[in-house]
Amino acid sequence: MPKLLVDNKEIEVKEGTTLLQACLDNGIYIPNLCYLESMDDPSASCRMCFVEIEGEEKPITSCTVTVKDDMVVKTDTLSVRRLHRTAFRLLLSVHHVDCKNCHVNKKCELQRIAKYLEVGLKPKHLEQHLKEPDIDQDHPFLDYYPNRCVLCGKCIHICRKKHGQSVLTFAKRGFDTVISSYGKNDVSSLACEKCVVCVDICPVGALILKEAQE
Ligand code: SF4
Ligand code: SF4
Ligand code: FES
Repeated sequence: MPKLLVDNKEIEVKEGTTLLQACLDNGIYIPNLCYLESMDDPSASCRMCFVEIEGEEKPITSCTVTVKDDMVVKTDTLSVRRLHRTAFRLLLSVHHVDCKNCHVNKKCELQRIAKYLEVGLKPKHLEQHLKEPDIDQDHPFLDYYPNRCVLCGKCIHICRKKHGQSVLTFAKRGFDTVISSYGKNDVSSLACEKCVVCVDICPVGALILKEAQE
């Protein structure tokens, strides 16, 4: 089993483990939003999980690296922190922060990351670009909040894993990208009423069962 040194702590993990997973399993937190252990091919889209690895020229996303014996890793250098904060600020620039009225208040990964990075959720001088409308109610059982979504893709992955194909998908492009269902008339959406794995896996409050809001 590979042994590595992370922030001067020696850890030993199973061959084939991603560096991010190895750290999380050993009580070393690295901010992350788009990684799930069951993903074969992590999208690395949130750009949050940077670390420094000895011998590498630049910081690297820990969810895309597999552990190697004798790896030496730092998770909290100045340049790593700078990257974490920049990625986080970018996420906040498209996020409608309204925690008091959000069903995941106090259980939200963005709140956890803000605390970890010692930054506020409403930074001064941050230019915001929000999508319209603020809510998509097209699905028969779920409501979706595009301005809370971090586009991590976990909901799509978990739905596909459970049902063989996903009721949810990415739609549109660039800034306009959203998660979309196939609409009210899609029969596959009917399975959602008794499932909601997507709601549970969402790291923020972007998906909610309609009935939970009534
Ligand atoms: S998703 Fe998190 S940060 Fe956003 S409003 Fe909800 S609790 Fe606040
Ligand atoms: S709805 Fe939630 S789980 Fe799905 S992409 Fe958005 S943030 Fe991720
Ligand atoms: S968790 Fe690694 S890039 Fe998102």
